[in-house]
Amino acid sequence: METATATAIASQRDYKEEGRSRFATLRRIEAILESSNDWAWETDAQFRFTWVSSGVARSTGLRPEELIGRSRFDFAAESTDRDRLSDLLADLDQRNPFDGFVYRLRRPDGVIRHVEIGGVPILALDGTFQGYAGFGKDVTEREKAEQRVQIAQRRMTDAVESLSEGFALFDPTGRFVMSNRAFVALAQSAGAKAGFGRRIEEIVAPFGASVLAARMRAWEVPDARAAAYEAALPDGRALTIAERRTGEGGIVVIWTDVTDIRKAERARASLETELRQSQKLDALGTLAGGIAHEINTPTQYVGDNVRFLKTAFADLSAAVRAPGTGSSDVEFLLSEVPLAIDQSLDGVERIRQIVAAVKEFSYPDAKEKSPADLHAAINTTLTVSRNQWKYVADVETRFAPDLPPVPCHVGEINQVVLNLVVNAAHAIEAKGDERGLITISTRKDGDWAEITVSDTGTGVAAENTGRVFDPFFTTKPPGKGTGQGLSISRTIVVKKHGGSLGLRSEPGRGAEFTIRLPLNPASAQPKETAT
Ligand SMILES: Nc1ncnc2c1ncn2[C@@H]1O[C@H](COP(=O)(O)OP(=O)(O)OP(=O)(O)O)[C@@H](O)[C@H]1O
Ligand SMILES: [Mg+2]
Repeated sequence: METATATAIASQRDYKEEGRSRFATLRRIEAILESSNDWAWETDAQFRFTWVSSGVARSTGLRPEELIGRSRFDFAAESTDRDRLSDLLADLDQRNPFDGFVYRLRRPDGVIRHVEIGGVPILALDGTFQGYAGFGKDVTEREKAEQRVQIAQRRMTDAVESLSEGFALFDPTGRFVMSNRAFVALAQSAGAKAGFGRRIEEIVAPFGASVLAARMRAWEVPDARAAAYEAALPDGRALTIAERRTGEGGIVVIWTDVTDIRKAERARASLETELRQSQKLDALGTLAGGIAHEINTPTQYVGDNVRFLKTAFADLSAAVRAPGTGSSDVEFLLSEVPLAIDQSLDGVERIRQIVAAVKEFSYPDAKEKSPADLHAAINTTLTVSRNQWKYVADVETRFAPDLPPVPCHVGEINQVVLNLVVNAAHAIEAKGDERGLITISTRKDGDWAEITVSDTGTGVAAENTGRVFDPFFTTKPPGKGTGQGLSISRTIVVKKHGGSLGLRSEPGRGAEFTIRLPLNPASAQPKETAT
């Protein structure tokens, strides 16, 4: 009995003891809850706050007593995410625990704070639902930062999507991360899939082995940060592909559809060819009168001589048939006839030369450059243009004996030399005082062949030296110049031959144009001569 009482007293003491210690624990927990900027809360079954810790005031500015008896939905701002909210309501309906729900809380002063809450249902011992308890914290700064990131990301996406170029990003291991729609569409036309995780090589592979090789070559350059190469889509469209390393070692890829640009380039190139061709024809047209004149002179004396030979032959045959009966002086005829024959042959030779030169000059160029004797070419050009300069100037040629054949489109080089010679003649004529001199010299300078055309004409005024190569720049009266000669010559020398065309001029004393052509065009680095 005693023992039973003792036991009862002891257990009562234990019970009190336990009660005290539980109470202490609760106080400690409460102290912890109260000290936090996060806060703890409890609601009744109607989700009305029955208790909130004071942290709520520190982070939201709402005092606990402003919340007690009211539901958090009384404070939810309009802008709270509808989807998140309906998820939460479903959870509450099911009496499920919930977590990570963020809603926008409107303080009485109108300021909106973002609050993240999580909670668990509280059930009585008999299982009836009594409410929820949980935590809340202010995540306004985090949400705002997230929003900023989202806005920045959306702007980036919008910008990238608005590019007409295909844009894609690959990570440092070369795997696809993201792209815009233009890239996906281009990749599809190429027969490649630009899906997540695919390697850049896989996406380029459908362009074929030569494109892959071009890509490899571009990246093989030591320390390469970027690569650029070209590819064609099966439908014939042309792409340029630019790849660039990003700061973190990934690769940004830009695919540009350059079909129209390439088309325009081809159209321009063919227009340029046509322009050159028509300038050549123009030049020939101008030359035609002079050439006719050049042929006319020898033709005339060949004709005179042949007529003389006809009468001489009649006289001589009479003298041979009946010696001593004729009136003519046989001795005179015997000395004159060979002269007339020589002169006729000379004339015919001259005509042959002119005709050959015209033929050579107007002969269309082959597609490929071929080694040409520039000295012969210059002589040809001087022959066909003789009538343009012979009244105003002498021409002197100083040909370097060691000049090797030069790989070129010789017809186009003829055209350039003709332009320079005609310009020289015009400049001498414009100066007007006395007969001038045009000197054409050649030189081998290392890997370069050089042709210099200099004259004793007006020279180029200092303010015009920078403009004479411009298309349509001319100082000549209409009908005498269209201003295309030097611009076309420059295109021929620089663009088509990888050479240079330079000018040196002393106003009042003359001008000197220098054509430089590479002897090994494949390896040549074009360099400008002094202008
Ligand atoms: N040897 C030169 N001496 C002085 N000025 C020159 C000489 N060569 C060219 N120029 C100047 O450069 C201008 C442009 O020459 P370019 O050959 O391009 O055109 P153009 O001779 O006027 O006309 P085109 O050659 O089309 O008939 C000339 O009008 C002239 O003013
Ligand atoms: Mg000219």
